[in-house]
Amino acid sequence: MSALRFFGISAIGLLITMAAVDQFSLLYREISRSCSFYIEALAIVGAWYTVRKCVSLAFDTYSALRLHVIPKLSGEIDLVKKYGKWAVVTGSTDGIGKAYAEELAKHGVNIILVSRNKEKLEAVSRSISETYQVETDFIVADFSKGRELYPAIKEALKDKEIGILVNNVGIFYAYTDYFTNLSEETLWDLIHVNIASATMMTHIVLPGMVKKKKGAIVNLSSAVCCQPTPMLTVYGASKSYLDYFSRALHYEYASKGIFVQSLMPFVTTTKMVAFSSTVSKRSIFFPTAEEYASHAVSTLGLSIRTTGYWKHAIQLTLGWLAISIANSSRELTVPSEMEYRTQLPHPE
Ligand SMILES: NC(=O)c1ccc[n+]([C@@H]2O[C@H](COP(=O)([O-])OP(=O)(O)OC[C@H]3O[C@@H](n4cnc5c(N)ncnc54)[C@H](OP(=O)(O)O)[C@@H]3O)[C@@H](O)[C@H]2O)c1
Repeated sequence: MSALRFFGISAIGLLITMAAVDQFSLLYREISRSCSFYIEALAIVGAWYTVRKCVSLAFDTYSALRLHVIPKLSGEIDLVKKYGKWAVVTGSTDGIGKAYAEELAKHGVNIILVSRNKEKLEAVSRSISETYQVETDFIVADFSKGRELYPAIKEALKDKEIGILVNNVGIFYAYTDYFTNLSEETLWDLIHVNIASATMMTHIVLPGMVKKKKGAIVNLSSAVCCQPTPMLTVYGASKSYLDYFSRALHYEYASKGIFVQSLMPFVTTTKMVAFSSTVSKRSIFFPTAEEYASHAVSTLGLSIRTTGYWKHAIQLTLGWLAISIANSSRELTVPSEMEYRTQLPHPE
């Protein structure tokens, strides 16, 4: 009954309106004129959004080419002239540190290796000097020992013209675990090796660089620095420390001729990831340390914050996309504990 009344009233309303505007075509024109105003306004908003997206895409593409492609195609940069004769690389008897040291030596830079194992240091040092015809030296230092180490390192470096410092040394978890399950010893090791070493090595080397008004400091952070990492809490937090440390230091010292880079690799097939049979094998996604270092060195002086490798840059972009999609469907902004447990072996 009420529906009939509604239709009746609507019909009468329409008839009155039609009478008021004389004919239906006039009414239609009036309505479409006001609609077209809204459509045009929406079209302007859409066009503005599209232009902004296109400009930012063009900038991103240009930055990616400038960082990852152009340096590889153009001639090599003279790192000795740009930064100085010597480079110090920590944790340089294996993995990324060793590969980075070799890559710098390829550019004619003399290398000082700092690591914990004397035999390995001798072997790597000899191999680099014979292969690349550069001078090499090494310092035996176990960074997990903490504060007591640094006076001796400072003394050993005092007469060297250090142009590049690579704070590479880092340790990972043996397996994922709750923070309170980690021993005090493990916690101190993580703090001393991952955080204190980069801080103290920079404190030793930076004054000399500032005096010469040139130098570069590369801190090996990690792609995990961008997100909280439950079950790897201290490792992830230590990498965030290095990222923030690098960025702030760059702003403090750029005007004094110092370039500081936060290098944030994704998985690279070194012994650090040997726990996993999937990620420890070289593949299209996971480069070897040598492949990674060759790209990372070519970004030196170009980007203060980079994954260092175009494949890792793609993975980071896809990672962010996945995270933003996941965030739109749930409140938690970090992967669940379960997801982390599947990535690393756990004793339970
Ligand atoms: N591999 C990855 O997927 C990945 C991803 C992101 C970030 N990173 C970061 O990249 C850096 C290098 O990683 P990596 O995979 O090359 O590691 P790695 O293969 O385990 O090599 C680590 C190097 O550090 C040395 N080292 C370890 N503990 C030390 C200590 N207490 N004192 C002195 N030297 C010590 C090792 O010496 P020995 O030869 O004696 O063992 C080795 O030369 C780390 O900071 C890591 O967090 C790695």
